[in-house]
Amino acid sequence: MDFNIKSGNPEKQRTACVIVGIFDSRRLSPAAKAIDAVSKKYLSNLIRRGDMDGKKDQYLLLHNVPGMIADRVLLIGCGKEREINDKAYLRIIANSVRALKETGALEAVNYLSELTIKGRDHCWKVREAVKVTEHILYEFNELKSKKKKNRRPLRKLTFTVPTRRELPESEQAMNEGRAIANGIRLTRDLANRPANICTPAYLAEQATSLAKTYRSLSVNVLDEAEMKKLGMNSLLSVSQGSEEPAKLIILEHKGSKKTQKPIVLVGKGVTFDTGGISIKPSPAMDEMKYDMCGAASVIGTVSAVAELNLPINVVGVVPTTENMPSGTATKPGDIFTSMSGLTVEVLNTDAEGRLILCDAITYSERFNPAVIIDIATLTGACVIALGKHASGLMSNHNPLARDLLNAGEEACDRAWQLPLWNDYQQQLNSPFADMANIGGREAGTITAACFLSRFAEKYHWAHLDIAGTAWLSGSKKGATGRPVSLLMQYILNQIK
Ligand code: BES
Ligand code: MN
Ligand code: ZN
Repeated sequence: MDFNIKSGNPEKQRTACVIVGIFDSRRLSPAAKAIDAVSKKYLSNLIRRGDMDGKKDQYLLLHNVPGMIADRVLLIGCGKEREINDKAYLRIIANSVRALKETGALEAVNYLSELTIKGRDHCWKVREAVKVTEHILYEFNELKSKKKKNRRPLRKLTFTVPTRRELPESEQAMNEGRAIANGIRLTRDLANRPANICTPAYLAEQATSLAKTYRSLSVNVLDEAEMKKLGMNSLLSVSQGSEEPAKLIILEHKGSKKTQKPIVLVGKGVTFDTGGISIKPSPAMDEMKYDMCGAASVIGTVSAVAELNLPINVVGVVPTTENMPSGTATKPGDIFTSMSGLTVEVLNTDAEGRLILCDAITYSERFNPAVIIDIATLTGACVIALGKHASGLMSNHNPLARDLLNAGEEACDRAWQLPLWNDYQQQLNSPFADMANIGGREAGTITAACFLSRFAEKYHWAHLDIAGTAWLSGSKKGATGRPVSLLMQYILNQIK
């Protein structure tokens, strides 16, 4: 999609469609008022007749409105003006894009980016509008033999700001929105691709081709022999049951001085999680192709950072493998020495995410990170605790946790913090090794984070459990691209 920013009156727009808001009950937004004035009360008459009263999710498409140069005017119901919060705004923009898609318009000028939202400026409104537009238009049909073709697809969408003064900043916000949306699209594509296509080697290829696209990026892919040399036996204990070789992908964006400590993002890349010998039940097991969503979100985020060429150093570290049962697979009770030197008793081979992440976190020490943030579809318990609405957040450094929570609020990609108290650590006690890889039924999301925390003690570290947020199940099955928005907002806030 081609996005643009403009200021100017709706009646002057030479375009296929002008989009304006109507508030509940039967109140015109400023842009609608301007159209009403030039059209000799065409809108207020029609509203009086009861064709549109501005309720949420209502819309009305008009042609040949008097006094207008535009071919069409699309009225969008916005609900009560004073109740338009972040969520409502996203829904209004989404509705406008859905309605527009049904028309023959190839382009449009959208005045909904001028709606008043408490605490949000024009930059926020533009950035979020671009993101939600791309989100709505996303489709994953590359594996259908017959592609449905839209004869008149939407090509160009212009958002408006009240005056010329807001143009430069809003254009920057639009660029941010576009880059974030592109990162999210990449994340969703990688995640939606099935495990027979999206293997660890495939993810490594994708990262490599990304590094060729952007000058700021460099890539390094470690194979199993190299990981073995580094002592990453915990990671390799997961891949040993699979025919697909594991990889450790390192994707670096150098946007600032060498001396500036990087933000290190570590993403769980289990391209398929059968559970291993502790095998999962078969219902919905296909969804375990999404067990690499952490990895996909790291790759998507680094890609967005590179597209914007942000003046900051960011490193993506992606441990990636399958988790399969076989004659060579890890057996419950097996003990491995991780790269850190700590030993782990694998009591459940289905708790494999932490086994690959711990070695990736230890590996990340070499970058002397400002912070380490890991992103993982780590526990079913997190889905039970928070559902699909919030990612679980745990951290050993409260200021970092606050920054991530705030970024999530701002980007409409929320997280919620769970405690990481020492009280939980004892659940990982093992009679035979330094720790077990599971902590029992209670507080499963927290004990998983406790496990990781033992490898991150030297750093400001946070863990995002995205098991509930990374994809949707049921009729809307598909990757969401979360938490790329949260991570990008966090990174942008570190610069500003
Ligand atoms: N990838 C799963 C977590 C998961 C399950 C995410 C369902 C989304 C939906 C992870 O590897 C796993 O299997 N975790 C186990 C841990 C348990 C054995 C301690 C779980 O949550 O059941
Ligand atoms: Mn598992
Ligand atoms: Zn898993």
